Amino acid sequence: MRILAIANQKGGVGKTTTTVALGGLIANSGHRVLLLDIDPHGSLSTWFGIDPDAQALSSYTLFQERKELSYQSVKRLVLPTQFANIEVIPATTALATLERQAIGQDGMGLVLSRALSLLADEYDYVLIDTPPLLGVLMVNALAACQYLVVPVQTEFLALKGLERMVNTLNMMSRSRKKALDYTVVPVMFDRRTQASVTSLRSIRNTYPEQSWPGHIPVDTRFRDASKAGIPPHLFDPASRGVEAYSSLWHWLEKKFKLLDSTGPLTSPVIVSKAGALS
Ligand SMILES: Nc1ncnc2c1ncn2[C@@H]1O[C@H](COP(=O)(O)OP(=O)(O)OP(=O)(O)O)[C@@H](O)[C@H]1O
Ligand SMILES: [Mg+2]
Repeated sequence: MRILAIANQKGGVGKTTTTVALGGLIANSGHRVLLLDIDPHGSLSTWFGIDPDAQALSSYTLFQERKELSYQSVKRLVLPTQFANIEVIPATTALATLERQAIGQDGMGLVLSRALSLLADEYDYVLIDTPPLLGVLMVNALAACQYLVVPVQTEFLALKGLERMVNTLNMMSRSRKKALDYTVVPVMFDRRTQASVTSLRSIRNTYPEQSWPGHIPVDTRFRDASKAGIPPHLFDPASRGVEAYSSLWHWLEKKFKLLDSTGPLTSPVIVSKAGALS
């Protein structure tokens, strides 16, 4: 099982869109995909027709039951979707209360890591959609994942937000056995605007090793797909946006194979290191 987190502390940069678009394409390649929504706004859950205001069982339950997680207790949170190979653990608005509750609580940083390890045989890929702030939820996602995808909007000041995210990563990497590998994905690129062109260039110049060489264009079909409740690759398979995410997926797949051949992907933080993160 490979666990990817899609994260950026900046809001509205395309995290949820990237999670659903990429997750859909990975599922379409025949892999069993679990999408884990830990954003209190629950945009990913909403995309799949699940109301985050009405979830008795959700990713929040994992934190409530963190001291007695079992395969059964985690598995019962998974909801099927009408799309082949895609299942969802939804979010609920109650997740917003976690930051306050987490203060001084032991083992709060490794809840997702422990929960997902119980599902290791069930899925080929888990994609975690995160909220746009650094807190206990983001820390959990970064501790649980083996790879990070950072969508960055190609706009004025894009680098500022990215710098903040990379600082967070470096901080988290110190709690892990090895630095967390990540790929920066420039999104919402509009070649007609100078801001897009300039920021794409500066992202690549500043993070030459970590930047995906492509970009995701501005494409209104993503919003249409989310309104329709359908993953982008099924909503409009020939759209420019889907083509771009498809080449991102093939690029990542090659990267994962390469990483596999040179040693396993970075292990998620081991449970015995709980003290470092709680
Ligand atoms: N490539 C794109 N082209 C055009 N619109 C896009 C693109 N990617 C995302 N959007 C739109 O931009 C808005 C924000 O995207 P999204 O919800 O994926 O961002 P987010 O980072 O998850 O936001 P939040 O931080 O609030 O969770 C949505 O309306 C989405 O449809
Ligand atoms: Mg989102």
